[in-house]
Amino acid sequence: MNAVNNKEVNKNGTGREEQQIEANKTAWGTLSKDHYNHFKIKLADKDFKLNPMVEEALGDVRGKKILHLQCNTGADSILLARKGAIVTGVDLVPENMHYARELAKDFDIENIEFITSDILKLTEVHWGEYDIVMTTDGAIGWLPDLNRWGRVIANFLKEDGFFYLHDSHPFMGIFDEEGLARGELVPKYPYFQISGDYEATIGGYASEEKKAENYFWGHQLSTIVNGLLSGELYITYIKEYDRCVPGMGGSKTDQNGLRYYPELEGKLPLVLSLKAEKK
Ligand SMILES: C[S@@+](CC[C@H](N)C(=O)[O-])C[C@H]1O[C@@H](n2cnc3c(N)ncnc32)[C@H](O)[C@@H]1O
Repeated sequence: MNAVNNKEVNKNGTGREEQQIEANKTAWGTLSKDHYNHFKIKLADKDFKLNPMVEEALGDVRGKKILHLQCNTGADSILLARKGAIVTGVDLVPENMHYARELAKDFDIENIEFITSDILKLTEVHWGEYDIVMTTDGAIGWLPDLNRWGRVIANFLKEDGFFYLHDSHPFMGIFDEEGLARGELVPKYPYFQISGDYEATIGGYASEEKKAENYFWGHQLSTIVNGLLSGELYITYIKEYDRCVPGMGGSKTDQNGLRYYPELEGKLPLVLSLKAEKK
């Protein structure tokens, strides 16, 4: 844990957060090709499906316009398009968007487009209204400001649309990962105000660890809710799960391909899932 002061400004007047986002862009870019190779194999398998918890929460997406935030190399965006949605995927990293377009071509998916942008600046480069704006599995910790995030989401939602979030439960951020794997709850990180937490390597869910500086923001539950309120979005559904997809925790895989901690089964909220709508 190596928190830095986000208010710090360098000699050129560039905010520290801007530098951290740039570092994250480079770091994620080192994984793009590996993710493309990984998901090309996965998408060729007819049994490769969306996270079942996400699928259930979204319902029937046929004909729905979906804005998929932080879509990485677009594997989930493609799964949504295969289910009949008209999908726009967005990610910070140009290499991710390049490989996402390649994957869409590889599998003849046409009802899809990809846009390179920092989510927090998306309104500067993109216009449109969507039935569903969504973000899943390891996303919001890469964003330094959830108040801006809430306003961006609201900007792209149709009046009768909904926002869907499915991500790590904020509570889980405090525990030592190795302790969890042994079934032990060892508090290691603060719950409050984890800002720009520095890591020297990145990787894990579809690639080897790579050396690349990156920064992560551990948001509290209240920060998430307040972020949505800042976009005047109101929570209409909230759920917590003791299961998550590979790469987001757990030490064992269940029969549905979801990860969990056997000794702590049913005791810990690994994932937070919610929907929010405009007033
Ligand atoms: C763990 S991945 C999300 C995986 C995703 N759920 C999927 O469908 O594969 C996190 C993604 O967030 C992206 N990202 C990080 N910071 C971002 C930002 N400020 N704006 C947009 N995307 C960002 C990264 O490039 C990376 O692809």
